[in-house]
Amino acid sequence: MTATPANPVLRRPGPSRRFCVAPMMDWTDRHYRFFARLISQHALLYTEMVTTGAVIHGDRSRFLGFDPAEQPLALQLGGSKPDELATCAALAEQAGFAEVNLNVGCPSDRVQNNMIGACLMAHPALVAQGVNAMHEACGLPVTVKHRIGINGHDSYAQLCDFVGQVHAAGCDTFIVHARIAILEGLSPKENRDIPPLRYDVVQQLKADFPQLEIILNGGLTDLDVMQEHMATLDGVMVGREAYHNPYLMADVDRRFFADPTPRPSRIEVLQALRPYIAAHLANGGAMNHVTRHILGLFQGLPGARHFRRQLSSALHRTDDPLGLYDELLADMMRRLEPRDCPVQQA
Ligand SMILES: Cc1cc2nc3c(=O)[nH]c(=O)nc-3n(C[C@H](O)[C@H](O)[C@H](O)COP(=O)(O)O)c2cc1C
Repeated sequence: MTATPANPVLRRPGPSRRFCVAPMMDWTDRHYRFFARLISQHALLYTEMVTTGAVIHGDRSRFLGFDPAEQPLALQLGGSKPDELATCAALAEQAGFAEVNLNVGCPSDRVQNNMIGACLMAHPALVAQGVNAMHEACGLPVTVKHRIGINGHDSYAQLCDFVGQVHAAGCDTFIVHARIAILEGLSPKENRDIPPLRYDVVQQLKADFPQLEIILNGGLTDLDVMQEHMATLDGVMVGREAYHNPYLMADVDRRFFADPTPRPSRIEVLQALRPYIAAHLANGGAMNHVTRHILGLFQGLPGARHFRRQLSSALHRTDDPLGLYDELLADMMRRLEPRDCPVQQA
């Protein structure tokens, strides 16, 4: 049975999760999210994982701050102490996030030692307590991102037990990275590639828990394939491809959210990003904080390498970063138009 929220009247409808961009440490910071939002208006974006300790004891504006343009935006928490999770969920609601998500998928040693991440798959009752505490502390949807198992704890029955207990505590949305994590011997990076992808397990989970929202994550790079998964699953979460090839998101609004607005061209995205970069520079920031996230914008097109190089190496040599940006924009416009025309849809 789903736990009753502290104040059911205040429970907000969740954002659509048909297409989500995965939480990625060091990658999905606020600058990346602002940039991603210029490409898709509807994709649900996630913060990097923030530990409960950082939220409670650290710089709140750093860990919970975002630009309203990033919405819909979910905060991902790392932690397992129910009281701390509750405090952070309430702070997430105050800060205006659309969802609060618990990380039960990260395999790094550092987080394991603190009972954070994938190791929690072996402790479903603790995760359920944490989710219940978050659910009672805020009116936001509480979701969980997890693996299909961890080594020594990877049977389908154990996965169902985990999902069943956590659902009973108040979570109706499970974002499932479709591979196990091996907690000893593999690095986090290897844990994103080596254990085989088991989409069939996620599909079985949806068949056995049809009332739950099940979002598929892991190895998704092609919008057609994602659309096929939508026939049986509720949505997809894309990580590395959305980072390395961000223009993938340009078709997401029309395909997955039935929004007929024409996609912006890459050039229009760069033009729209310019005032944001100017404001960041005016606040004492460096252009690279923003532009390191946009290097893949032209992936697969002529000039992609030139764009990447100019933004990574030439940037270090200039004392007029915005001037360089403008030159590069004009240069890419000459190279690409009309190929990069927004109205010519594939
Ligand atoms: C650089 C990097 C950082 C990541 N950080 C997080 C994180 O903070 N929280 C999390 O739940 N998963 C994290 N992940 C895992 C992704 O969210 C995602 O589950 C994984 O990359 C598989 O999806 P993909 O194949 O679409 O990339 C990270 C992945 C990468 C590549």
